[in-house]
Amino acid sequence: MSTTYVLDTATSRAHPTPAPMKRLNIPGIRQRKIDGVTQHPVVMLTAYTARQAQLLDAHCDLLLVGDSLGQVIYGLPSSVPVTLDMMCAHGAAVVRGSYHAAVVVDMPFGAYESSPQQAFESASRLLKETGCDAVKLEGGTAMAETVAFLVARGIPVMGHVGLTPQAVNVLGGYNARGRSAAEAEKIVGDARAIAEAGAFAIVVEGVVEPLAVAITQAVPCPTIGIGASAQCDGQVLVTDDMLGMFERTPRFVKIYEHLAETISAAAAAYAAEVRARTFPGVEQTYQPK
Ligand code: KIV
Repeated sequence: MSTTYVLDTATSRAHPTPAPMKRLNIPGIRQRKIDGVTQHPVVMLTAYTARQAQLLDAHCDLLLVGDSLGQVIYGLPSSVPVTLDMMCAHGAAVVRGSYHAAVVVDMPFGAYESSPQQAFESASRLLKETGCDAVKLEGGTAMAETVAFLVARGIPVMGHVGLTPQAVNVLGGYNARGRSAAEAEKIVGDARAIAEAGAFAIVVEGVVEPLAVAITQAVPCPTIGIGASAQCDGQVLVTDDMLGMFERTPRFVKIYEHLAETISAAAAAYAAEVRARTFPGVEQTYQPK
């Protein structure tokens, strides 16, 4: 499907043609799974900019403004340094660039863990400043009280269990979780606790396949897998990974395009054309290294 955009300079919104479907809502996403059965898998991709959102919007149920933008956009070593200001700026851009998919914005590390009240301050700021539909936070049983606190106050929450990248300094890396029976049991308990607290969906990241299946069977809300299992109720990928923007991509990622090569080739062609310019009376001296 090809969509074109006309910029409305009064609102900074780019209006798409053809007109998109109505924006999906969070209760509708939750209702994709009824009595443990999912009729339509949930399609989610990350988006960080307005233009990226425009291109992904019509194809997705959910756009996730993930704190993975720390690595993908800012070249940071992990998501730990990502700030609420960054999430607000990128969240607002993605909402401006989308009309159909519901937009979920990650709560960054340090913005919600100390108390439910702190989480409410951060989440309400994200909703007010970006116009997003929901927030996502990492953690299991320890975050259940916070999830219930937010949901009771009008903030839809997506959970995130298994490999939780904000905890990289405790986990010691990004390896798959749940290989031991004890750890697997803990992660199922985490997912149950977050679901019981009212999460409308749960990202299940980096767990062994049987564990992803067990979590999906254990919770009433949709699970959205990444490096987990095709048996999850939905799937998410970091868009830049599946577009082949990086030299190193997690093993589980299916690469649908090789944009890094396309961009390099375009830049090389452009540079060669500019450098081939000749100016009257000027001897060509530039030698590219
Ligand atoms: O930050 C992110 O992009 C995420 C996804 C990997 C689920 O949390």
